[in-house]
Amino acid sequence: MGTVIPLKKEVNDTYLELKNMVGSKLDDVNQQIKYKLASEINLIHKMTNYHLNSGGKRIRPLLTLASAKLCGYKDGGRDVNLAACVELIHSATLLHDDVIDKSEIRRGVKTANSVWGNQSSILVGDYLLSRCFEMMVEDGSQEILKLLSSTSSRIAQGEVLQLEHKGEIDLLEETYFNIINMKTAALFGAATRVGACLANKSKKEKDALESYGKNIGLAFQIADDALDYFSTKTIFGKEIGKDFYEGKTTLPLIIIFQRANNEEKNFLREIFKKKKRNEDDFSETLALINKYKAVQATFRRAEYFVNVSYDTLGIFQNSEEKKVLQNLTGFCLTRSF
Ligand code: IPE
Ligand code: IPE
Ligand code: MG
Ligand code: MG
Repeated sequence: MGTVIPLKKEVNDTYLELKNMVGSKLDDVNQQIKYKLASEINLIHKMTNYHLNSGGKRIRPLLTLASAKLCGYKDGGRDVNLAACVELIHSATLLHDDVIDKSEIRRGVKTANSVWGNQSSILVGDYLLSRCFEMMVEDGSQEILKLLSSTSSRIAQGEVLQLEHKGEIDLLEETYFNIINMKTAALFGAATRVGACLANKSKKEKDALESYGKNIGLAFQIADDALDYFSTKTIFGKEIGKDFYEGKTTLPLIIIFQRANNEEKNFLREIFKKKKRNEDDFSETLALINKYKAVQATFRRAEYFVNVSYDTLGIFQNSEEKKVLQNLTGFCLTRSF
């Protein structure tokens, strides 16, 4: 699979295929979220509407709906409710994450924390999570409740682990993978596993679908970390260089530190010792990223997970759903936002 690094905001075909496959169910998910989040508290009403209307790819709920369809789930609307839960966990995480990362732009608009402040964002994030737990209890499956609640704690642990390693320029690649496994891949894996649980599939099929989601999730986060260095604000919908300025060591930086000579290593160590890095520091780091082809190397790591994800679905019988899910794996590498 060749690595393509487009810089045009276009909706990838495989993503559209996935959306078409679930039909109007994604609209139902959005409706369900809106209904569930209704509150008489004015600030909650304003903030949840703002966050949900700001867009977002809805990739995780799409994966839940598509996985359920692949597994033959037909009767009832549990897939819609659980896909809504998955998106609520994601949304709550983003509200909290933007406070931690001091982010000002998300999905091309101001973040909730930059409009209403950190306190409101934390509280509304908690509100989203609480509503999600209500919905999971209403669904009634102990298995799914256990899966999604442990996923929620995995995400929190991943974010804390990342915080513990903030400013660490010589972060081990191993530690980076631990972090992204917890903060991102766990939710992707749970999103797809839920589909198999809904259709009462065998343990092997549940494990396979979870592995498919996890590996997509890893590739997705690796791509996000690469885009943070080379995309543009208009296309990515987020600030560029944010990870660098915040002292978050991600794969492109890990790779240049691995490959740098002593002088370059000292330079990187010095700028990471500082409380704040400036634009010159960023330009010099970008030059090293170019020199060591770190973005390409980053995408090569992601490509591995994309391939694992694609092949994991091999145990399922051929179907249109399987094809769409397999095609989607490449989206992580070609997406520009
Ligand atoms: C952002 O996730 C957080 C990461 C795991 C990189 P998305 O890129 O799925 O965010 P939205 O919901 O589409 O904005
Ligand atoms: C992903 O990490 C956040 C979570 C999974 C909570 P990032 O911090 O890279 O996500 P963005 O870039 O803010 O969307
Ligand atoms: Mg962030
Ligand atoms: Mg990011």
